[in-house]
Parts: sequence; structure tokens; C-alpha cells
Amino acid sequence: MPALVLLGAQWGDEGKGKATDLLGGSVDYVVRYQGGNNAGHTVVVGDQKYALHLLPSGILSPGCTPVIGNGVVVDPSVLLSELSGLNERGVDTSKLLISGNAHIITPYNVTVDKVTERFLGKRKIGTTGRGIGPTYADKINRVGIRVQDLYDESILTQKVEAALDVKNQILTKLYNRRAIAADQVIEELLGYAEKLRPYVADTVLILNQALEQDKVVLFEGGQGTLLDIDHGTYPFVTSSNPTAGGACTGTGVGPTKISRVIGILKAYTTRVGAGPFPTELFDEDGEALRRIGGERGVTTGRDRRCGWFDAVIARYATRVNGLTDFFLTKLDVLTGWEQIPVCVAYEIDGKRVEELPYSQTDFHHAKPVYEMLPGWSEDISKAKSFSDLPKNAQNYVKALEEMSGAPISAIGVGPGRDETIEINSFL
Ligand code: GDP
Ligand code: IMO
Ligand code: MG
Repeated sequence: MPALVLLGAQWGDEGKGKATDLLGGSVDYVVRYQGGNNAGHTVVVGDQKYALHLLPSGILSPGCTPVIGNGVVVDPSVLLSELSGLNERGVDTSKLLISGNAHIITPYNVTVDKVTERFLGKRKIGTTGRGIGPTYADKINRVGIRVQDLYDESILTQKVEAALDVKNQILTKLYNRRAIAADQVIEELLGYAEKLRPYVADTVLILNQALEQDKVVLFEGGQGTLLDIDHGTYPFVTSSNPTAGGACTGTGVGPTKISRVIGILKAYTTRVGAGPFPTELFDEDGEALRRIGGERGVTTGRDRRCGWFDAVIARYATRVNGLTDFFLTKLDVLTGWEQIPVCVAYEIDGKRVEELPYSQTDFHHAKPVYEMLPGWSEDISKAKSFSDLPKNAQNYVKALEEMSGAPISAIGVGPGRDETIEINSFL
């Protein structure tokens, strides 16, 4: 059984953590391939709730090896506190593997993220302030610090000094901030080296050997398709590739090994941070979705912007990721609406448009064209099979499937592991 990818089909927070955890018990490896602790993945196991930021959701499945791939950016202090938090709750984290090629989010990257956003003022992206953009910028600029650099003090010193030479000019002269002392950063980073050493490994080799031995590898995306640096709503995006291709570059596993790409799709839409969002609601329906869906950020505690389901976006996610399946989440949240609007196309400057426009200007002008689907009032949270759902809920799912361009193979009807209807097996 080759590799599977599980990724967000919208703007993040679709329920990737729950879906990954559900499969975690049946796979050998769960691998994060991009992003960092900007992610907040909630997993509910029985009466226990876990909020994971950097660790793959497979960490909660005892038989599974969690891996942080080379494409991830790692804040060592966040990682270590996440590990000790889980250890205190009795979770064994000893199997974790971290790529030596993953880049480190340094304290100055976090500072630069925050001051840049402040400087942008009204034009800010609304980042999570975790240093994600500046760390990926350093990686591309070839001045980044990698996990393996922690084990060569001389190289680490040279790299931190080189990076700070430029950054301190910008911090002091442009942003009017204090310079950051290189020796303090180096000391802090060296302090993490021995604590991380047991986990650092050649993850590219390990994952490819595992696949040769027919082990099952699940790639867990952070963020979502519309937050992708290449395929998302640029510039209101994150700085990595959550789309399916990112799973290859972010782990060193070739595309021929991937047999299934599962898009996690919320039954409505949410977004955190700035940027266009055609189906966004500013009325009591939006407020109700936020309240019933518990739409508050796991990482930053910000309220999520809420809106109706957008089939144009779902179709786009199917296309750019080559999705084989959808996992539809949070269908239970829509219980109680008499009619549920679904965006089937956009109207842009008076013209009907069926597909996501590539132009930012057009997308900013896109107005949703809604079709009304009949709702249901029965509690669906105990449904175990598709036929347990009320007819109108079944029709809502079928309509979304038809519009989105890939089969819906599972449906979430609650946050718990067992609150899931499986239609087609993923494994
Ligand atoms: P992620 O970032 O994609 O992992 O998603 P988040 O964890 O940020 O947000 C999804 C939220 O929805 C979490 O609080 C989950 O526990 C919850 N959730 C996931 N699936 C379902 C579902 O089917 N129904 C309900 N009611 N909640 C769900
Ligand atoms: P999960 O994995 C939702 C958003 C931020 C901001 C933009 C850029 O939980 O789905 P960044 O800090 O990445 O430079 O911020 O991306 N963002 C997310 N939104 N879910 C996430 O992760 C996100 N990670 C980043 O709000 O708009
Ligand atoms: Mg999240």
C-alpha cells in the first residue's frame, strides 16, 4: 500500500487533525510536510482534547511513527513544550523523527514576522505571528538555519551572524527596533541541540525504505489549498505549499508513490486572517455558524470568518491537488437551517463564472451565485452510515459531491474519532 496525502481543501481548519487521527491507527507513518506551528490541529479522543501545532496528528496513535519532514519549519522551543505537554498527559512521543534538513524558526524570524505585520498596518496579512514567512524567506534566500546546523557550532555561528548582519540593519534602521545579539541566539539554539538529538534522522531514507517494505505512509498537510503560496489567494496566503505537490518536495518521496489524495472539506467555509472570501457572512447566519461550529482559532484564539459552502473553491481544490476523495467535515453544524445556500458559481463584473479566476482583481470582485438546498432538523451526530442521515442531509452531501468533482468518502458528524460516517475505505 503506497502513500496517501491528506490536505485542507479550503482556507485551513477543515478538520485535518481529526481525519489524520482517525487513519493514524491504521498507518505506519504520519508525516507533516510543510508549515510549522501556524497550524492548530484539534484531535478529540474520548473525553480528551489535544491541540497539536507542530507534531503530526499520528503522535496520538501508539503504533504509528510521527515524522516532521524537511519541508516543515520548526520552532524548537514550541516543539519541546508540545512534547513535554503530551508526555505529562501520558502520550509516548519517543518514536518522533525530525528531518535534519528542516529549517529552524529562529527568535529573530518571529520578531521580523511581528514587526513586518505591524508595519503593514491596514494592509497586513493577518499572519499567526509565528515566524513562518521570514523563515521560509531565509530558506529561499539561502540564509536559513537547519536542524542539522545545531550540531556544528562553527557553521551555526557563521550562519546566524550572516543572517543577523542584514536583519539588524533592517530592524534598527527601518523598523526602529533594537538589534538582536547573535551570541544570545546561538546560545539559545545550542541549548536545544541535545534535547532534539534523539529525534533527528534521515527521514527521506527512512520513508522511502518504509514504502519499499509496503508500509503505509500518510502525509498530513497544514493550512489549506487556498493558503498555498503558489495556488492560493496570494498574497493572503501562508509561505509554503500545502497542496499535494508539497508532500513530495517536503518529504523527499516521489509522486509515483502516492496513490490517494484526500481533500478535507468543511460543509461550510471559514477563513482566519485577511484576504478575499466570496461567501463570507456578516449576519446572524455567520454568527450562528461560528457559535455552533466553535469557529475560534486553535493557534491564535482569533474568531474565524464564516460563510456558506463554496463549490467553486472545492472544484479548484480537486483540480490543483488531483484529489481522489473528499472527507466532508462538520455536517452536523448545519443541522437546523430550513434552507442552506451553496455557492455554485461567481458573478464577476456582471458575468457568470464557473471556475476560480486566476486574476486577483477578479477574485476580489467575485460575488457568490447561490443555489438553495433544503435543510434538516434531526440530530445527525449519532449517524453511523449514510442511510442513517435524513434524506435532505443525504441530498446535501450528494449535491456537494456532484459540484466538487470527487467522491465524498467520509462524513464528519461530530469532533470525536467515532463521530464519522465511512462510505469508502481510505486504506
Ligand atoms: P485542522 O486545522 O484542519 O485540523 O482543524 P481545526 O482543529 O483547526 O478545526 C476543526 C475543528 O472542528 C476542531 O475543533 C475539531 O475538533 C472540530 N471537528 C472536526 N470534525 C468535526 C465534525 O465533523 N463535526 C464537528 N462538530 N466538529 C468537528
Ligand atoms: P491549520 O493547519 C487557518 C493563515 C493566517 C494568515 C495566513 C498567513 O490549523 O489549518 P502565516 O502565519 O502562515 O504566515 O499566516 O495563513 N493560516 C491559517 N489559517 N488554519 C491554519 O492552519 C493556518 N495557518 C496559517 O491566519 O491568514
Ligand atoms: Mg487548525
